[in-house]
Amino acid sequence: MSTPVEKIKERLNIVDLLGTYIKLEKAGKNMKARCPFHNEKTPSFFVSPDRDSYYCFGCGAKGDIFTFVQEFEGLDFFGALKLLAERTGVTLERTDFEKKDEKEAIFNALEAATQFFESNLPKSNSAVKYLEKRGLTEKTIKDWRIGFVADDWRTLYDYLAARKFSDSEIEQAGLIKRNERSFYDRFRGRIMFPIRDSAGRVVAFTGRILPENDDGKSAKYLNSPETAVFNKSRILYGFDLAKLAIKKFDYSVIVEGQMDIIMCHQAGFQNVVATSGTALTPEHLTLLRRISNRVIMAFDADKAGFAAATKAWQLALSLGMEVKIAEFKDGKDPADVILSTDGKEKFKEALKDSMHIIDFYLAKILAEKLEPRKLGKEVQEKILPFLAIIESSIEKSHFVKKIAEKTGISEAAIWEDLKKVKVEPGVDGVGTKSGNFDNKTAIDRVDSIERRVLGVIGWQEKDTEKLIDIQTSKQKVREIIGGENFKKWETAPVQVINEAIFEAEQYYEKKKIQAVLDELLMELEKEYVKRELARTMSEMIKAEKEKDLKKRDIMAGLCNELTKRLAKLK
Ligand code: UTP
Ligand code: MN
Repeated sequence: MSTPVEKIKERLNIVDLLGTYIKLEKAGKNMKARCPFHNEKTPSFFVSPDRDSYYCFGCGAKGDIFTFVQEFEGLDFFGALKLLAERTGVTLERTDFEKKDEKEAIFNALEAATQFFESNLPKSNSAVKYLEKRGLTEKTIKDWRIGFVADDWRTLYDYLAARKFSDSEIEQAGLIKRNERSFYDRFRGRIMFPIRDSAGRVVAFTGRILPENDDGKSAKYLNSPETAVFNKSRILYGFDLAKLAIKKFDYSVIVEGQMDIIMCHQAGFQNVVATSGTALTPEHLTLLRRISNRVIMAFDADKAGFAAATKAWQLALSLGMEVKIAEFKDGKDPADVILSTDGKEKFKEALKDSMHIIDFYLAKILAEKLEPRKLGKEVQEKILPFLAIIESSIEKSHFVKKIAEKTGISEAAIWEDLKKVKVEPGVDGVGTKSGNFDNKTAIDRVDSIERRVLGVIGWQEKDTEKLIDIQTSKQKVREIIGGENFKKWETAPVQVINEAIFEAEQYYEKKKIQAVLDELLMELEKEYVKRELARTMSEMIKAEKEKDLKKRDIMAGLCNELTKRLAKLK
C-alpha cells in the first residue's frame, strides 16, 4: 500500500509540475532554470527526473515536489499536500486529518465560521443591499465566500461551541475575545471576507462594518489577529485566485483594499492581489517575484500605506524587479473607478499609464514647481534612496541622465550625492550579492532533515508496533548533531512534533521505516560534516592571514579528515 505522497508522485512528475511554475530548459538528462528561491542571472537550479528532485548550486535549495510547493507558494506541508492531492485527483483519507492537532483544529474552526457567515448573508436584507450597491455580483460573492455576521455578542461563538469546538480552539482561531467573565465574538455587525492562503484554506477574516451598525467608534475594517495559521506579512489577500493570471500576464497588480481587489477580479483583472490590514512587506514581494518580476502598485500615493511600503519597494528594486505605480484621479480607489462609467476602460488606462517608481516620484516633485535648492533636497530625499538600490548600471545612468535633464541639476552632482546615500540595513543585506534573500540557508536545510528525523522517530515512539530501536536511534542523532542541538531537537514544541509526525506518515511506508531513517541520518551527518568543513576552512584561511602557521597546519589536518569523512558518506 503506497502512501499519499507516493501516490501523488506516481501521477505527477517533478518536471511537469515545476514546469508550471518556472521556465525549464533541457540540460542533458536534467532540466535547468533560473532559481526561483534566489536572485540569479544564469541558471544554477537543476531538476533531475531520475532522482525526482531539484537542487540549486547557487543557494542550496533542494527537495521534491512537496518542498517546492511549500516554498514557492509559502505553504506548510498540509497546504502543499492538499494542493497537490487536488491537482492529481488523489483523495486524502479523512483520517489523515483527524489528528487533534492544534493547527488542524484552527483550520476547521475557521472553515466552519466561513460557512456560518456565508449562510447568514441571505438572511440580512441590508447586507445584501449593501453588497449590491457596491456592485458585487452573486457569483463574486460566492467565489470570494463573502458572508455576514449579525450585530450580536456571541452568535458565532454559540454556533461553534454547538459544533464541539472548545473555547481554546475558537480563541486560538482569533474568532473570540475574552472579558472578565466570558467570551464574545470579535466580529459583530460586519460583512465578512475570508482571507485564504495559497492552497485556498481560510486562515483569517477581515470584516467591514455595515454602515447602519457603525457607531463612529469602531474601525471600518477589522482584521483577525495573527494566529498559528495567519501571518499577516506573508499572506496576500486573493493570491490563491490571482496566481495563475499573474503568471499568464507576467505582472501583478497590488491594491490596498478588499473591495478594490474584488471589483478588479470581477471586472476581469485577475492578476490583482491586496495587502490585508498591513503595509506591503518584503515577504509579500518575494512571493510575487517568484511568479513574475514585474509589479504595478495601484495604491493611493498620498496615503500612509504607500509611505509604509518604502522598504518593500527598495527590496523589490534591489532584487531587480520592475516596480511601477498606477495613479487614479480625484482620490478615487480602484473599486470606485471600476464602478464608475466606463470603469473597466479607465482602470485599464491607469495600468497602461503606470510609471516606473522613479519617474513617478520625479513627476510628483516637478509638479510642485519648487525653487532650485528645495528641488535638489527633494530629489535627494525622495528619489536617490530608490535609485541607489538599482543594481544595473545601465538603468542607473539612464535615470541619472533623466533627472538631470528635468531638474537642471548636473549629472556629476547627482552621481556624487548618490554615493552618499546610505542603503538601509535589511535592504542591502538580503540583497542580490549574497544571492540569498529567501533565507534558505544551510541551517534551514539541516532543520528540514532534523524535522524529518523527528517525525520518523516520533511516529515510531507512539506506535505500538516498533520497527526501529528508539533509544539507539536517538543516540545516533545525538552523536551527529551534538549534545546542545540534541537538547533543542528533543524538546521541540508539541505542535512541531505533531506536524513532523503527520508529514512522516504521509511520506513513508511504515515497513520501510528503518531504511528511511538510516538514509536520513546519513544526509544529516553529511550536512553537519559540510558545515564543520566550511568552518574549519575559514579558520585555516584566517590563521594563514595571521601567519599563525601552527594553527594553520592543525586546521589543514582537520580539513583533510573531514573531507575524507564526507567522501565516505557519499
Ligand atoms: P480605506 O479606508 O481606503 O477603505 O482603507 P476602502 O478600501 O476604500 O474601503 P471601502 O471602499 O470604504 O469599503 C483601505 C484598506 O485599509 C484597510 C482595509 O484593508 C481597507 O480595505 N483598513 C482600513 C483597515 O485594515 N482598517 C480600517 O479601519 C480601515
Ligand atoms: Mn473604497
